[in-house]
Amino acid sequence: MSRSKSSSRWLREHFDDPYVKKAQQDGYRSRAAYKLLEIQEKDRILKQGMTVLDLGAAPGGWSQVAARYVGDAGHVIASDRLEMDPLYGVDFLQGDFCEEEVFAKLLQMTGNRGIDLVISDMAPNMSGNRAVDQPRAMYLVELALDMATRVLKPGGSLLVKVFQGEGFDSLRKDMHTHFRQLQTRKPDASRSRSAETYWLAKDYMG
Ligand SMILES: C[S@@+](CC[C@H](N)C(=O)[O-])C[C@H]1O[C@@H](n2cnc3c(N)ncnc32)[C@H](O)[C@@H]1O
Repeated sequence: MSRSKSSSRWLREHFDDPYVKKAQQDGYRSRAAYKLLEIQEKDRILKQGMTVLDLGAAPGGWSQVAARYVGDAGHVIASDRLEMDPLYGVDFLQGDFCEEEVFAKLLQMTGNRGIDLVISDMAPNMSGNRAVDQPRAMYLVELALDMATRVLKPGGSLLVKVFQGEGFDSLRKDMHTHFRQLQTRKPDASRSRSAETYWLAKDYMG
């Protein structure tokens, strides 16, 4: 399919999308917020007082949901290479997560706090060439896992977006070496056509 055809299909789908309309009505910055809300409904991963690290956070839908559930006693640290408008209860760092300096700064921001939950909705800009996109996407998952293993408290959780394809199985095995439980989630708000799915890894072994 040509680029212009696929982008006009994207625009049509976007404006007809019930989650896009709902996000506008409910005051969420993205339709992605409903993916986290659905997972929350089922798995109750967000709780009052938690400290959460949100990777690939812009425009901020997941951070809005996280901040709401952790409440005033909790805290959200968020990061993205794009700018993000400020949100109450959310500390934001702008930068490319693949850069060592940004990774290190984020580690610094978490300090000695100990993170209860890492959530990553990061996805690379898709070129349409799977041979290029898949390794980029898997690299982001590897980095998110690396960060999680440095900041999570024992017993903590990681929710991470993954793309089915090369590297998927070996990374899944890797996840199993760090977490006692690993589940797959494909929320309704995630388009069925999309290869994205989420891993919910629970009970970090520390
Ligand atoms: C699907 S969007 C996230 C939507 C967000 N969860 C929400 O609810 O609004 C994916 C995000 O990952 C970010 N991203 C992709 N690669 C990144 C990288 N290397 N470093 C930082 N952010 C990255 C993109 O800039 C984009 O904002």
